Amino acid sequence: MAKVIAVSTNKGGVLKSSIVSNLAGVLSKEGKKVLIIDTDNQGNASISFGENPDNFELTLYDVLLEGIEPKKAIVNVHKNIDILPSNDDMGFFEFDVISQLDKFKKPLSLLKNAIQKIEKKYDYYLIDCPPNLGMILGNVLNISDEVIIPFQPEVYSMRSLQKILKQIDDFKEKHNPSLKVAGVVGTLVDSRTTLHSEVLQQCRKFCYEKNIKMLDTIIPKSVRFANAVAYEKKPATLVENRSNNLINSYYSLYEEVFSNGEKK
Ligand SMILES: Nc1ncnc2c1ncn2[C@@H]1O[C@H](COP(=O)(O)OP(=O)(O)O)[C@@H](O)[C@H]1O
Ligand SMILES: [Mg+2]
Repeated sequence: MAKVIAVSTNKGGVLKSSIVSNLAGVLSKEGKKVLIIDTDNQGNASISFGENPDNFELTLYDVLLEGIEPKKAIVNVHKNIDILPSNDDMGFFEFDVISQLDKFKKPLSLLKNAIQKIEKKYDYYLIDCPPNLGMILGNVLNISDEVIIPFQPEVYSMRSLQKILKQIDDFKEKHNPSLKVAGVVGTLVDSRTTLHSEVLQQCRKFCYEKNIKMLDTIIPKSVRFANAVAYEKKPATLVENRSNNLINSYYSLYEEVFSNGEKK
């Protein structure tokens, strides 16, 4: 069975989708077969591969709520990388499930049921998440082995980190005992900014005290590169090599989360 890694936190704009697509890029170069499961109605995982999510006739929504075969919705976007995409339809997921609870008796197991129907050809499922802690996240945590938590070091960041960690802890206790935090990773970091260094330090201390892994990898802020990548229609790790600082950070994230994981 594929290893399932989710990238999640209840904040937007902290590189969840970028981490998913760039890790998929690294994994594909390493010869691993990846399925990105995009659970966010913004569809950014597809957009980062140059696909317009509005053009998909069938999406994760149809798989979860209409019982459509996943393979009918899965698209190939690059060598070794497929996506089970989402678009605006996914925005109705929670409402549509809650209003039909007679039909959906186990609303947190919809994704679990769906992935059992996916062809067993992938090494990894990478799950991109919406920026909140609702029913979609519940479905994701139910099938995840590990969660990567992006942490942008700003004034209020510790608060949301504590919330997602609590959610994961509660979920682990009640539903998925094998769920693990793969690590907290600093994102959009400008190492010249004193505030960033201070908040990261605070986060390291917090994680150390709570026995949560904070990764050594830091994904730097690089506006120039983010702009350049927007024109390539591919994640940065499929465009440039490791000599670039940002690309190197995704490789070191891969090494910390995946290579260690395989050796265990
Ligand atoms: N290293 C980077 N430095 C600066 N901006 C970046 C970087 N990587 C990605 N971005 C931009 O930051 C924005 C938010 O990233 P995204 O991955 O969509 O966050 P999330 O999925 O958490 O909402 C996007 O517009 C993206 O292009
Ligand atoms: Mg996103």
